[in-house]
Amino acid sequence: MRSLRKTVLLAIVVSVLLVVALLHSWPTRAYTTVDVWQRPGPAVERHLEERFPEPDHRSANIPYRVKESVAGLLARNGCVCEGETGGMNLPFAQLLFPRVSAHPMHTAFEASELDEMKKRRAKEYQGFQMRTQTPADMLIVAEANNPLQYPTQGMEVRPYYFQYYSICLVLVFFVLCLPLNFFLSQVNFTSTLGTLNVAAEVEGVKVKGDGEMRMTLTSSLLSNLNRQLQFVTYTNTLFHPSTADTVQFETEGHQAMFTIKVRHGVTPKLYNTGPKGEYNISALVTIATKTFLRYDKLQALIDSVRKYYSTVTIVIADDSENPKTVSGPYIEHYIMPFGKGWFAGRNLAVSQVTTKYVLWVDDDFIFTANTKLEKLVDVLERTTLDLVGGAVREATGYTATYRQTISIEPGEEEGDCLHMRRGFHHIIQGFPNCVVTDGVINFFLARTDKVQQVGFDPRLARVAHLEFFIDGLGSLHVGSCDDVIVNHATKIKLPWVSQSESDKTYAKFRYPPASSDATHTKNGLLYFKNRFQCLTHN
Ligand SMILES: *[C@@H]1O[C@H](CO)[C@@H](O)[C@H](O)[C@H]1NC(C)=O
Ligand SMILES: *[C@@H]1O[C@H](CO)[C@@H](O)[C@H](O)[C@H]1NC(C)=O
Repeated sequence: MRSLRKTVLLAIVVSVLLVVALLHSWPTRAYTTVDVWQRPGPAVERHLEERFPEPDHRSANIPYRVKESVAGLLARNGCVCEGETGGMNLPFAQLLFPRVSAHPMHTAFEASELDEMKKRRAKEYQGFQMRTQTPADMLIVAEANNPLQYPTQGMEVRPYYFQYYSICLVLVFFVLCLPLNFFLSQVNFTSTLGTLNVAAEVEGVKVKGDGEMRMTLTSSLLSNLNRQLQFVTYTNTLFHPSTADTVQFETEGHQAMFTIKVRHGVTPKLYNTGPKGEYNISALVTIATKTFLRYDKLQALIDSVRKYYSTVTIVIADDSENPKTVSGPYIEHYIMPFGKGWFAGRNLAVSQVTTKYVLWVDDDFIFTANTKLEKLVDVLERTTLDLVGGAVREATGYTATYRQTISIEPGEEEGDCLHMRRGFHHIIQGFPNCVVTDGVINFFLARTDKVQQVGFDPRLARVAHLEFFIDGLGSLHVGSCDDVIVNHATKIKLPWVSQSESDKTYAKFRYPPASSDATHTKNGLLYFKNRFQCLTHN
């Protein structure tokens, strides 16, 4: 009797604890919605229209003479590739007198398809620009709250360091306006990595130091001086792949400084996604996976994929000791040295992808009617996200998205503190099933070039997943949708079914004990490579 009462009491205590735990973990925070669609924000556009300096109509009839040497470069509407003509056609001529040659690229296409290619490329490029530019790249001019009006941000030039590049040189032409109610006679400019010049000479203005790092403009007529300021140009002359020149701009008693970014433009990596219309998954997506010993599971995955996507390419990285042949149409099987590991395999698989997107799956996943890749493609096509995770359904029916927010708190000599929490930041406007977060489950669709950029550290051989998202923090924009679901092949261990030999070996490699070398490697990398002192998570 006593023991029964004890049991009942224990059951009550356990239930109460469970309810408390459940209430505690229940999300109490109200999430806001965020707009991450691929389009410039309206605020930025308005800003630019208002702030871009209009040429002053009062100064429009002040005479000036265009300087051919400088203005010629400005007037050109975009770059041209020109080769050097002439010269002798002798043996070794190219060795002795190297000449510049020019090659057009559009000849790779038939004239009939060129128009279509141009349009497709323009669309992909527009998407690329919207994803890579931020409001911090826009030109903003500070209104004259002192006599100087000057740009505060958004000035950028390409490094100009080698004569042959001058045919494609871009010069920034900037306009500096002085309000007319100040009487000023002299303006000085100083730069450190490039030269200042004027594209035209205005009557009644004396220009000293044009083509140098210090330039002085002097005039007794303020409106003429203002007109002259509209023709000031800057050319970078000291090459550095990524730096900024600080230009000083001073007049009697007043000083202003602004920076001009000097750097190469980011080369776009665009993918030809085929003719418009419905999303063609075979042309847009490659499925990548890594396998180790579990060929039965892998075959089940392939069979399930083929039910829904018969021509999508599947890339398999395999580091089994005695690899078996996996073949079939649209299958690429890469064999690696034995036991190279989990992230090395992911890296290899992803490096072979040639489509715009790559879908990561584990080799024991099963596609179902709920695995609608079109939905994930739609999210990436229409937003600025780089990667979007789906959901994985276990045999028990439990479905997980494994959303994680990651933050790094600055520390001192000991290193920074890494904090990971279950959850997300915002719901995505227009996609009620999707959220913005920092890390997701092992089932995600991503822009191939961004995943390749972040890379999977091959030093992480056994247990690793979120490390990829930690490495990508700050460059990878991550989302997660719970309405695209892949099934996990059963993992419930029934005590009366003995594990197969390959499953046992697999488990030994994949789930090493916490005190093992694998865990040490992982912590060592977090400590040294990422400079963390500690990690908190829930
Ligand atoms: C411009 O520079 C010259 C020579 O360095 C100097 O004499 C002059 O005072 C400067 N003018 C202004 C307006 O700062
Ligand atoms: C989809 O893309 C594949 C591969 O690029 C191509 O072979 C196929 O013809 C495309 N299908 C349609 C309907 O455009």
